[in-house]
Amino acid sequence: MISKVRKAVFPAAGLGTRFLPATKASPKEMLPLVDKPIIQYGVEEALHSGIQNMIIVTGRGKSAIEDHFDVSFELEHTLEMKGKKDMLAAVRSISDMIDVSYVRQKEALGLGHAVLRSRELVGNEPFCVVLADDVIDSEVPCIRQLLDVYEFYGASVVALMEVPKELISAYGVVDAEPVPHNGSQNRLYRIRNLVEKPKPEDAPSNLAIIGRYILTPEIFDSIEAVGPGAIGEIQLTDGLRHLLRSRPIYGYRFEGTRHDAGDKLGFLKATVEFALQRKDLGEPFREYLKGLKL
Ligand code: UTP
Repeated sequence: MISKVRKAVFPAAGLGTRFLPATKASPKEMLPLVDKPIIQYGVEEALHSGIQNMIIVTGRGKSAIEDHFDVSFELEHTLEMKGKKDMLAAVRSISDMIDVSYVRQKEALGLGHAVLRSRELVGNEPFCVVLADDVIDSEVPCIRQLLDVYEFYGASVVALMEVPKELISAYGVVDAEPVPHNGSQNRLYRIRNLVEKPKPEDAPSNLAIIGRYILTPEIFDSIEAVGPGAIGEIQLTDGLRHLLRSRPIYGYRFEGTRHDAGDKLGFLKATVEFALQRKDLGEPFREYLKGLKL
């Protein structure tokens, strides 16, 4: 029987150097996209995919994340006294909707190391990993799309996206063969190998791994087995390559748009697109943009 995925791990202990100086003293996961911190988009995506247990891997200077998902007694009391029901509901829904646990990564020793820090809290069951700075806009939540594949094959699944050749060196890239799935020939792939940040001429394909994964618990032993790579960081990609020796891994080219909100330009694009979709802001914001002399 295939075990149900109940937990989502959010590695959020990175240094966020691409967004300095904003990220010097506050976590990049708390940068607001319109009016919600970027990590809340990921948490809501997990929740709408049927996952309620969130595990956030934090580090130094990240306490704002914990406060954000906690009850804010003074704020709720003030809003209640002032009769601001809508705002109260918005604030409450955050702390009400999920069960969150935290684990610290004392030093930013890499994404693989951050995932390994969640081992005790995850236990011996499959789990999801969400890199919150990849904000995904899609009809069916990206995690739900991956879970559908996991529930069919009972194996690890990573989210894939096509990337132009000149940009491929920023990503983990897969060598993979297509597997027909649900009447589609080019969404699901069985992965043969993975390469971290290849030169364009060495990239095995144009399919890059983005920040959503469903992983079976054997990944923990694999991450431990590979240890730190060239720059002293423990890479998740190396762990996945090790896992491939004993287990199949699938890649799913998800339906939707991914924004890299950990990057300044990506963040600006996401802000514009999400603002345009908003019922309360979309119209006036569109008018404003039309009036810009570009
Ligand atoms: P990034 O590659 O985006 O790194 O990490 P970063 O350090 O956060 O940001 P830049 O590149 O310096 O601007 C991908 C994800 O892995 C987490 C990050 O928080 C982010 O969600 N991460 C990375 C950790 O939790 N620990 C680490 O040691 C490294």
